[in-house]
Amino acid sequence: MKVVTTIKEVRENVKQWKKEGQTVGFVPTMGYLHEGHGSLITKARENNDKVVVSIFVNPMQFGPTEDLDSYPRDLEKDSKYCESLGVDLIFHPEPSEMYHDDFSSYVDMSVLTEELCGLSRPVHFRGVCTVVNKLFNIVQPDRAYFGEKDAQQLAIIKHMVQDLNMDIEVVGCPIIREEDGLAKSSRNTYLSPEERKAALVLSQTINLAKQLIADGEKDADVLVAKMKENIEKEPLAKIDYVKAVNGLTMQQQKEIKAPMLIAMAVYIGKTRLIDNTILH
Ligand code: PAF
Repeated sequence: MKVVTTIKEVRENVKQWKKEGQTVGFVPTMGYLHEGHGSLITKARENNDKVVVSIFVNPMQFGPTEDLDSYPRDLEKDSKYCESLGVDLIFHPEPSEMYHDDFSSYVDMSVLTEELCGLSRPVHFRGVCTVVNKLFNIVQPDRAYFGEKDAQQLAIIKHMVQDLNMDIEVVGCPIIREEDGLAKSSRNTYLSPEERKAALVLSQTINLAKQLIADGEKDADVLVAKMKENIEKEPLAKIDYVKAVNGLTMQQQKEIKAPMLIAMAVYIGKTRLIDNTILH
């Protein structure tokens, strides 16, 4: 496995592979890898000849008061993990390699980015779309892998690929959870032991939603109200949003019917966590 820091080195490797007729699977990450990322890498490994993982904490997708500086980083541990999963190349650029001083081109999507996380993180999806677009141009993958935990991000990337005629298959992979149900996230490391327990309210509320739907609930407003009521019982939790939206357009929907995304962002102390379930 190679670890490279420049765009030139990625291009040289990928060019050679393509010349040999090999397919390339790509997993973009911000590092501090966990089993959620591992499941994306494993899927990429199964379905492609070569696997590239990018590790880049993208400054453009963080707001001024967000956790860019404290975002956890551990390249050595990430490299070992990638190697154990059969990754061929890690791309780990410095911000200056990705964004030159005179950088001024952005990918700015409307509609889908204006709901859910886009409301509380106004610059976030512009940063995500711009960096993913750049990474796609650099790596030129056949397939790219994203987790369903960031369901809005996944829908946005699929839409961007379609809108901009990119010849890349975007593959979504299921949420990976801890044994007690908490969705795996690099940000879980911010939680104190007490907050870690309180954070279970997210997955428990997702399970409640699934149960209510299985029991025949059809009204999205009723579902959301019951979910909020459940979260509010946890003193350390503060709701950012709980919403039931169309899974493709991210627009609110009255009736519970597929494709639907039932998603939430909840602060546990200072840590903002997300979780969801998708009705396919
Ligand atoms: O999901 C993430 O980790 C990031 O948003 C991504 C896709 C790597 C872009 O920086």
